[in-house]
Amino acid sequence: MSCGGESLLNTRGRKRNMEIKTFRQLLLLLAMLLAVRTALAHQDVHTYSDPRAYQQRHLELDLVTDFAARRLAGTATISFTRGTRADGRLVLDTRDLLIRSVALVDAGTSSLLPFELGKHDPILGRALTIHLPRELPPSFVLAVSYETSPEASGLQWLTPRQTAGGRHPFLFSQSQAIHARSWVPLQDTPAARITFGATISTPPELLAVMSAARVAEASAAGKHVFEMRQAIPSYLLAIAVGELEFGEIGARTGVYAEPEVLESALAEFEDTEKMLEISEALFGAYRWERYDLLILPPSFPYGGMENPRLSFITPTVLAGDKSLVSLIAHELAHSWSGNLVTNANWEEFWLNEGFTTFLEGRITGALYGERQQRMEERLGYESLLEAFGQLEPRFQKLKVELEGVDPDAIFSVVPYEKGRMMLDWLATEFGDQVINAFLTEWFDTNAFGSVTTADFLDYLQNKLLDRHPGKVTMDEVRAWIYEPGLPDNAIIPPTGVFAEVEAARDAWLAGRLKAARIDTGDWSTQDWLFFLNNLPGKLSKRQMKDLDQTFDLTNSSNNEIAHSWLRMAIRNDYRPAWPRLEQYLLSIGRNKLIKPLYEELAKSDEGMRFARRVFEQAKPGYHPQTLAAVMKIVYPAEVGS
Ligand code: BES
Ligand code: ZN
Repeated sequence: MSCGGESLLNTRGRKRNMEIKTFRQLLLLLAMLLAVRTALAHQDVHTYSDPRAYQQRHLELDLVTDFAARRLAGTATISFTRGTRADGRLVLDTRDLLIRSVALVDAGTSSLLPFELGKHDPILGRALTIHLPRELPPSFVLAVSYETSPEASGLQWLTPRQTAGGRHPFLFSQSQAIHARSWVPLQDTPAARITFGATISTPPELLAVMSAARVAEASAAGKHVFEMRQAIPSYLLAIAVGELEFGEIGARTGVYAEPEVLESALAEFEDTEKMLEISEALFGAYRWERYDLLILPPSFPYGGMENPRLSFITPTVLAGDKSLVSLIAHELAHSWSGNLVTNANWEEFWLNEGFTTFLEGRITGALYGERQQRMEERLGYESLLEAFGQLEPRFQKLKVELEGVDPDAIFSVVPYEKGRMMLDWLATEFGDQVINAFLTEWFDTNAFGSVTTADFLDYLQNKLLDRHPGKVTMDEVRAWIYEPGLPDNAIIPPTGVFAEVEAARDAWLAGRLKAARIDTGDWSTQDWLFFLNNLPGKLSKRQMKDLDQTFDLTNSSNNEIAHSWLRMAIRNDYRPAWPRLEQYLLSIGRNKLIKPLYEELAKSDEGMRFARRVFEQAKPGYHPQTLAAVMKIVYPAEVGS
């Protein structure tokens, strides 16, 4: 019995031992899985490339702009260095590119290399895998011969009719977030910076500009040579070609625009040099030498794009009274937050936009006064609340997870306004001076590098929390970043700056005041936006008419005011504004202004019919990225979302 008992015990013991062993193994496996996950999390889910295997260093572009065929054609010659994960297969990102050949270039000789294009993915495009020879020095040069597609998602080819002058065609790029790959085969990830040079051949009457320095005057034959000595992420590669002229603002600033628009743009943006000086005083030296603006035709899909040395700007902010120029402060601020210190991937986008929106507010405040800054903060906060109402919780966080998600599809104001509010909260807790110094050092320490939220948290712990203990906790900071919505400690921008407008609105709504008796004489654009955006969703026909007849809102030449009014006009089925609505949707391509109008239209059958009719007409003029966004709204079934 004892024997049997012993053996039973032994068996049990062994069994337990084995259980413990498997448990340990399981734990080990779990730990390994977690480690792999974190390693992967540092990867950019929007690139096929692996900069840890090979990393791009310098790019030489030699491209011809073929307006008739709507193609760029030529070569991208890229130098690479070998990394720890090199395995003989070098992968680049492409979308809709025709790859003619890939060659290894060595001391003037070039030898063709085998390559293949992978399966097309609707978000990522196609991987270009290049098979490298066995023996290769640690740094080497590849030349890829290619052509873009007329539908390249990162380019828009405009007919002369779509320009202000109407005489010449126009071409411009929009590479952010992952569209550079549609016009250059490269490692399209913000984690792998490049310097570049470019030779662009255009029709001789046109001027090419790039996010780079011009090396020589354009030749009579239409050759334009550029050089970018500061390393940039691929999403900041930019080109535009058109009938462009240049006008100077200050020593380091100026405007490129079509001749028809140049004067008004110079007047509207005359404060740009001052903005640059203010920014330097606040956040450290400007590292890009020049800061010019390029005014695009109205189909440009964004308000602005911070291409280095040359921000691309929508003409829809030419209001005539400088009331929308905080856009310039924003794009300029990216010269620090974004271009100098870059989000390592698109899940870290708030590090670009939240910081920039904060900087934008500080520049606006310094230049135009606290009231202007406060008004814009309040409007920004209201747009954030609206976005929260429309977004799933996972997209209400600052740090997002985007595996399988198209960055264009989840674009919202959350990283902008919530990011700004988080920094505002820190500035309130630690003081403006401390936060400005903290940010200046952050830009300096990480200059020409890529950063993650984890990097920021480390830095914050060392440079702020540890040095000024007892003010905020890491848990509070983490709640801002990893939780949806707004934490309780958020400082809500007060409506006080709009007190008079609010009073007028209340009196008018209560029927105590006729529209004609509201004293709007000194209302700014922001006052109007606050007024319109804070009216009830439903107004009576009589109320709509009262407002329109008094203030002629339907014909407002301010595109932001017109946008807010047209949204109300759709919501309230106010037909007198619909011809203007049609004209607005046909003439503007800026996503932020037209998407909400299509969305509002899509809520009723009749609205949807109108939207589709206008869209069909507007389509040929829309940018590929605008087209994709509006398609989802007016033909949701076909796009499958
Ligand atoms: N970098 C953005 C534009 C962008 C973001 C393009 C993501 C593609 C993908 C630019 O700096 C920006 O934020 N523009 C805003 C203006 C700003 C004042 C909020 C815009 O276009 O409306
Ligand atoms: Zn921005």
